Amino acid sequence: MKVFVKTYGCQMNVHDSEKLLGVLATIGYNPASSEEEAHLVILNTCAVREKAEHKVYSELGRLKKLKKNGVVIGVCGCVAQKEGKALLERMPFVDFVVGPRNIYSLPQVLEEVKLGHRVVKTHLNGSCITSLELPILRQDPYRAYVTVMEGCDNFCAYCVVPYTRGREISRPSSEIVEEVKRLADQGYLEVTLLGQNVNSYGKGLGEKIDFPGLLERVHQVEGIRWIRFITSHPRDFSERLVKTIAALPKVCEYIHLPAQAGSNRVLERMGRGYTREEYLDKVAMIREHIPKAALTSDFIVGFPGEEEEDFQLTLDLVERVRYEGIFAFRYSVRKGTRAAQWEDNVPLSEKGRRLSQLLQLQDRITEEVSRTYQGKELDVLFYSWRDGVLEGRTRTNKIVTVLGDKRHLGAIKKVKIEETRMYQLLGTLAQGGESL
Ligand code: SAH
Ligand code: SF4
Ligand code: F3S
Repeated sequence: MKVFVKTYGCQMNVHDSEKLLGVLATIGYNPASSEEEAHLVILNTCAVREKAEHKVYSELGRLKKLKKNGVVIGVCGCVAQKEGKALLERMPFVDFVVGPRNIYSLPQVLEEVKLGHRVVKTHLNGSCITSLELPILRQDPYRAYVTVMEGCDNFCAYCVVPYTRGREISRPSSEIVEEVKRLADQGYLEVTLLGQNVNSYGKGLGEKIDFPGLLERVHQVEGIRWIRFITSHPRDFSERLVKTIAALPKVCEYIHLPAQAGSNRVLERMGRGYTREEYLDKVAMIREHIPKAALTSDFIVGFPGEEEEDFQLTLDLVERVRYEGIFAFRYSVRKGTRAAQWEDNVPLSEKGRRLSQLLQLQDRITEEVSRTYQGKELDVLFYSWRDGVLEGRTRTNKIVTVLGDKRHLGAIKKVKIEETRMYQLLGTLAQGGESL
């Protein structure tokens, strides 16, 4: 039997798809390379903006034709969680709807589908987020995602994630360390610790541990060379964390620190829990202790009540921080969130104008920052090789390509940067190559 999983949304979803494939492998499903050859098609969905949700419905409309051949169709992920039974009613050819915390019930769900039932599994409480006993079919042999916590208790005014991912739950540190050890034994070089809000790791756990403490423990695992983590909430980004990152050589100097807006009035209404001054202070603290740090961020434009002067403050913040890159989005109303009660009063065309102005500014900065890599010798982890071209990433998460032999695949090598592009660096393997 073959399964085709199509993934939307964030890294958490990418990793959930690896869990979906892992569980399904235990009951005899192998990954299909296209939906046409699959017996089971699953959409692992994202609900963060209206557009993401629309994509799911149009894709489902397209998949409907596969139904004739007896293909089983399932919806997982955040739209599944949010819509539940309503999705099943709206889409009569969908066989099951399973939320992110119920991935491991898939074997039973498929049994029920076989008996002719249509199934919804979206309970959030009491269900586990992941466990060492549960199989994961990782898609990359060198870089692994590891769930450290899931859910979010922040309830930012615009955001649907606390409703789709539930309340924050942390995994016991011993389990995380054991998983990382097993990955090291399998030859993995890099782990990315995943959570909607990793800085609040440890909350509610019986043990006395926080996120810096977890980083220290993961750092001790032999064989793992690089450690990354996403996502950080600026409010909880502490001095202790900055100092820990600075002190632990395996922790990469790459920090995704979503600001969302540069105006205090907007930040306050978003319920982010920090001011622009506090955010800029944190950035200064990071730059002081980790001078090589690469920062990236998310921004929302056209939040209800955002005036031109608020938007100018976002531009100003971007100019001051000089991010390596940003993700920026037009505000999108999400039903059930606090902001949905407020008038979505920035016209779409104005949101579009602000978005392109912001992206244009960041493009200039991205290019300028990218140019500073010129001539440097950097460590690069190579994860792909095709037709004599190796592709890898720096510790700061920049993509690097070099001409080179396949034997460098799955290794960290020194690269001399010869040419810089906006999103990519071109280089040559430095003599002697091996690093660390
Ligand atoms: N946990 C992360 C991000 C979660 S969602 C954090 O706290 O930042 C990823 C990004 O989508 C957010 O950072 C935000 O910029 C964007 N986003 C979330 N809800 C949105 C909405 N209703 N409209 C537009 N963008 C949104
Ligand atoms: Fe959403 Fe805010 Fe939680 Fe991030 S911190 S997932 S933006 S509610
Ligand atoms: Fe989307 Fe859910 Fe991630 S809404 S951004 S897939 S947590």
